[in-house]
Amino acid sequence: MLGEVRITPSILNADKSHLQSEIAKIAQVSDLLHLDIMDNHFVPNLTWDFGAASTIIKSSPLPVDSHLMVADVDEIAVQYAEIGCASVTIHAEATADIPQTLKNIRKAGARSSLGIKPNTDISDYESLIDDVDMFLIMTVEPGFGGQSFMESMMDKVRRTREIIGNRPIWLQVDGGISMKTIEMALDAGADTFVVGSAVFNAPDPAAMVVSLREFATAHGSK
Ligand code: DX5
Ligand code: ZN
Repeated sequence: MLGEVRITPSILNADKSHLQSEIAKIAQVSDLLHLDIMDNHFVPNLTWDFGAASTIIKSSPLPVDSHLMVADVDEIAVQYAEIGCASVTIHAEATADIPQTLKNIRKAGARSSLGIKPNTDISDYESLIDDVDMFLIMTVEPGFGGQSFMESMMDKVRRTREIIGNRPIWLQVDGGISMKTIEMALDAGADTFVVGSAVFNAPDPAAMVVSLREFATAHGSK
């Protein structure tokens, strides 16, 4: 049975010319704001640079869950923690010294999170468990919102849930989560859900967050 469930909307596909009002739509009903940072190198897309991200982070009404899809992330990850992110996700594929960077993120006051792409195996990172506050299992290839959920990742989510055991580590999935797919991720053991297009393309984004949470909570208590 699941414990607490978290819904962390991604603003990647929100209306960037009205970001503050987009964020305000979901602020009352969401747990964290998922901020996708892309460098056009680790992934073939570019989003906010550190300066622009800082403005969003500092003015956010929600704690920020930053998802760093950038190469050579070791130093910048600590800066994201220092400017006040609640959680900082680094990608295993982009980090030179993973245990040290996870420790540095924590030391700077944020939750430390390790993300992996669809072709990366979780078992290689099992030994880092004491340095991790959240695992992020990508359920699409990182880079773009609006892609289809990869059901084939559910074995990896299940395996990660086994590795976590009773530790208070969050297990996040990111990519293609919607009312149609969240059940598969719940069944596999995820408890923290990034939702981008399914929330911001909905006629009422807040109502969609509420529906996802109600479904996940009811499912968990079954
Ligand atoms: C993709 C990003 C996701 C993206 C999710 O690389 O990491 O956070 O915004 O968007 P949806 O929910 O539309 O797949
Ligand atoms: Zn993301």
